[in-house]
Amino acid sequence: MTEKLHSKPFDEGTRLKLNIFRKCFREWLPVFIHNPKIDKIFVYDFFAGPGRDSEGTPGSPLILLEEARGADLQYCKTGKIKDVIFGFNDKNESETLKQNIAAYFNQCCQRNCKKKECLYEKKCHCANLDFKSLFASENLKKILANKSFAKFILLDQYGFSQVDEEVFRKLAGSPMTDFIFFIASSFVDRFKDHEYTRKYLNTEKIDFSSVKPVQRHGLIADYFASLVNKPEFYLHHFTIRKGSNHYGLIFGTNHTYGMEKFLKVCWEEDTFAGESNDNKWGDEQEGSLFFGIEPPKKIEAVKAELREMLLQGKIDNNINGLKTAMRKRCRPKVFVEVVRQLEKEKKIERIGETVNNRAERIHEIPEYKIRPL
Ligand SMILES: C[S@@+](CC[C@H](N)C(=O)[O-])C[C@H]1O[C@@H](n2cnc3c(N)ncnc32)[C@H](O)[C@@H]1O
Repeated sequence: MTEKLHSKPFDEGTRLKLNIFRKCFREWLPVFIHNPKIDKIFVYDFFAGPGRDSEGTPGSPLILLEEARGADLQYCKTGKIKDVIFGFNDKNESETLKQNIAAYFNQCCQRNCKKKECLYEKKCHCANLDFKSLFASENLKKILANKSFAKFILLDQYGFSQVDEEVFRKLAGSPMTDFIFFIASSFVDRFKDHEYTRKYLNTEKIDFSSVKPVQRHGLIADYFASLVNKPEFYLHHFTIRKGSNHYGLIFGTNHTYGMEKFLKVCWEEDTFAGESNDNKWGDEQEGSLFFGIEPPKKIEAVKAELREMLLQGKIDNNINGLKTAMRKRCRPKVFVEVVRQLEKEKKIERIGETVNNRAERIHEIPEYKIRPL
């Protein structure tokens, strides 16, 4: 399988996945690099592959290193990189990976800073361990548990057996940890009754019977979300169609800002619903006869739900409303649009001096109360 993936050029679906990894890390790193409360930043790519495809296109580890330079090399220039530590692991590909990383640093120094050695190079470690044993190591457990360490974790597994319920729960329960993993959702569905699959995922709890193929990944994501019982855990997903199969990414974070960032990336990729490259909600696409007449279906559905909740007093403050929009996998500004519309219709009242229309950096937004009229 490794042979197949990297001995050919990456296909369109893989390029989309890598682009999401890239944009996600690009959004993530500045948040922590500028955070004085963070002592160190750990970036782990546990299924890193060899680093490039057959045409030399960068895979996830080199993408992370490219992004870590910052726009116009800003992090290299300011020396901000000193506290960023990379861990790249691949059970089968670590030798090629090491060579590709060494060549990358060499080339980057020649092209950019002209120094003999990149500051990142010393902070970049490669291993060839089996993921499950690496994940069980005491060192990793300590890093995951440390609240002063920010962690960005990529798990680009084959299939579905490596990120099982236990691994997922552990990651979701780790402070300052944002993670994103790949899962072959079509295969989970196809082999849902197989003993092998049930060893890793409780597929009895996922009802695939009445959904379209494009919806399977979302169901799997909902199932993972149901494993975590924490009010401040957020999860989003992105479905990738490749031929007749659907794969996907699942992202988890313990912070609203992490969720805001991931939603931003997904909504840039899929401007209709922020969750697939396969028109999951059946919107009229550009070029079709009725394109642009109706608003995107998912946004309308979520707006209708938020409206109802506001009218019934189930959402009684802006922070709750912004978070609810995100839990329904929309960008939080959708809530502001609904609340302003209801205010215009004189159906709700926003109360107090802190009333505002903000929808970004939710953790910094002043709270205000809302009541139905
Ligand atoms: C989908 S590929 C990763 C691709 C990579 N992220 C990229 O962008 O090129 C999955 C990788 O996982 C590695 N792998 C498979 N089983 C593993 C295990 N149990 N532990 C660690 N690595 C494993 C394979 O060698 C393969 O390179």
